[in-house]
Amino acid sequence: MSFEVGTKCWYPHKEQGWIGGEVTKNDFFEGTFHLELKLEDGETVSIETNSFENDDDHPTLPVLRNPPILESTDDLTTLSYLNEPAVLHAIKKRYMNGQIYTYSGIVLIAANPFDKVDHLYSREMIQNYSSKRKDELEPHLFAIAEEAYRFMVHEKANQTVVVSGESGAGKTVSAKYIMRYFASVQESNNREGEVEMSQIESQILATNPIMEAFGNAKTTRNDNSSRFGKYLQILFDENTTIRGSKIRTYLLEKSRLVYQPETERNYHIFYQILEGLSEKIVTNLN
Ligand SMILES: Nc1ncnc2c1ncn2[C@@H]1O[C@H](COP(=O)(O)OP(=O)(O)O)[C@@H](O)[C@H]1O
Ligand SMILES: [Mg+2]
Repeated sequence: MSFEVGTKCWYPHKEQGWIGGEVTKNDFFEGTFHLELKLEDGETVSIETNSFENDDDHPTLPVLRNPPILESTDDLTTLSYLNEPAVLHAIKKRYMNGQIYTYSGIVLIAANPFDKVDHLYSREMIQNYSSKRKDELEPHLFAIAEEAYRFMVHEKANQTVVVSGESGAGKTVSAKYIMRYFASVQESNNREGEVEMSQIESQILATNPIMEAFGNAKTTRNDNSSRFGKYLQILFDENTTIRGSKIRTYLLEKSRLVYQPETERNYHIFYQILEGLSEKIVTNLN
């Protein structure tokens, strides 16, 4: 690595994680490099090191920063410097701009919007992404769903979409939008413009509230946390019409039925049943 004067870089920061900076001095004497950085918050940092290799024996060296034009790229694999601050900065910059999706090659990174973003999943959006290649439009869940759908049709092979992330990241919501896309897209391909679901497709989507009543509960991290894993299969026939679906569930958190931490709740169904009971029965239960 070289740190010529004027080089833009990232430096670790206690609160922000990383902060931008610029090399203002780069001297070498008595076998030691002397590096000076001016950080974006006005602070100056001096680093003395006998090597520009980053390892445990040396003080933390700055990390190189990408040119501004690359910084909010829609695909992280196009970054010249692919390092932790570059990835975080790109996702953050896009997020601030209302763009919750970013590609990292074939992977889609989804940041939880913590806001209503219904416009992202409108019928128009489904139509926009239908029959388009992934690189033609902004990164989107629908582009991933469309790709799986297209591969299934052309390759005549089963396709899998893997959704992963920490609790509250948006896995359940994302899986639902993917299902919605499959249920709607073929109709919009068949008939000009109109997006309408068949009975079987709306039935598949209607299983969600029931699954969630029995398998989801409020936790400290997510008001609608799925307390079970599920493997969902959507079955298409040779005309790519949805014929049915299969759900395999595993690892339901059964202990929640008898014990919930202070700030958490039992499964939704528990409160839904109570809500539907007559006052007399509820009084007796107390
Ligand atoms: N794409 C999204 N659009 C709108 N809200 C979202 C989105 N992703 C996540 N959320 C919000 O975050 C909450 C938690 O998401 P969820 O999918 O249940 O997380 P996970 O299944 O990963 O634990 C949702 O109830 C919703 O309020
Ligand atoms: Mg979930």
